[in-house]
Amino acid sequence: MDITSNSPDTATAAAFSSSWNTLPLGSVYTLEQIIDWFAPVQLAQLRDKQVLELGCGGGNILTHILKYEPEIAVGVDLGDSVFTAERNLKDIQKANWSIVREDLCSFESKGFDFVYCIGVLHHLKNPYEGFLSVLRNTKPGGSFHCWVYAHEGNIVIRLLVEPLRWICSKLPWWLTKYGVALPLSALYFLYAKLLSKLPLKISERFPIGPYSLWIAKREFRFFHHVAFDQLVTPQTIYIKKETIEKWLNQTFLVDQSYSYIVLRNGNSWKFGGRRTLETVK
Ligand SMILES: C[S@@+](CC[C@H](N)C(=O)[O-])C[C@H]1O[C@@H](n2cnc3c(N)ncnc32)[C@H](O)[C@@H]1O
Repeated sequence: MDITSNSPDTATAAAFSSSWNTLPLGSVYTLEQIIDWFAPVQLAQLRDKQVLELGCGGGNILTHILKYEPEIAVGVDLGDSVFTAERNLKDIQKANWSIVREDLCSFESKGFDFVYCIGVLHHLKNPYEGFLSVLRNTKPGGSFHCWVYAHEGNIVIRLLVEPLRWICSKLPWWLTKYGVALPLSALYFLYAKLLSKLPLKISERFPIGPYSLWIAKREFRFFHHVAFDQLVTPQTIYIKKETIEKWLNQTFLVDQSYSYIVLRNGNSWKFGGRRTLETVK
């Protein structure tokens, strides 16, 4: 029996594989973007460390992480995107990476020095279960880092994307990608580029201003990828800061003397910290 078909997230992972598996090879992210996504984590500190990515998609982050020479880097994903991840990593000289096809919520390991989960928890049927897996797979004393879409600062996206997602869930992926995401991303590209020409004090006040100024640095192809990514997934839960605070506070696995929650581009949360020395019984 295929172990991946039992997961409540199977449909989500299948939808995402139509996103990751139809991109040209190579990372869709720039190094600058990765550094910003991970701050306050300093990527240079990953050298000789054991690193795990939960929900690795097409390996677009791992290709950058491997440049920092971790001892090993493992990516876990439930979908067919694991094949793209393997293709994206195959030219890396050092054979210190592996890709595992599994549900991240039930993934078990001996523990890694650093575990990250970027853009995944908000798509899970049970985001808290995913977060607990991040902690469970972090070694005692190790650190973790996550990034999720925020409830805060996303009212326009929520009002626009949610009805469209319902329509797109009835369409084949290629119609969503080229018939819906393409024209929408063209309009949004113009909006973001126009905002980027205005004085900062004015542009920041526009709907999704800070995020638009950030993405305006990228080329049209990236806008199209992001729009398709938003529309193709069956579910997105926009997460409140208070929910993350609760997650970080309610488990003995988070070291309460070191954790952080940082707003990124006005509409997403980066959060992370250190795992306690306690072990999971
Ligand atoms: C938005 S993508 C993010 C991928 C990658 N972290 C990145 O930022 O490029 C979300 C990924 O989570 C994966 N995913 C969703 N539910 C999962 C689960 N329960 N177990 C493992 N992977 C899952 C999807 O297949 C998809 O590749």
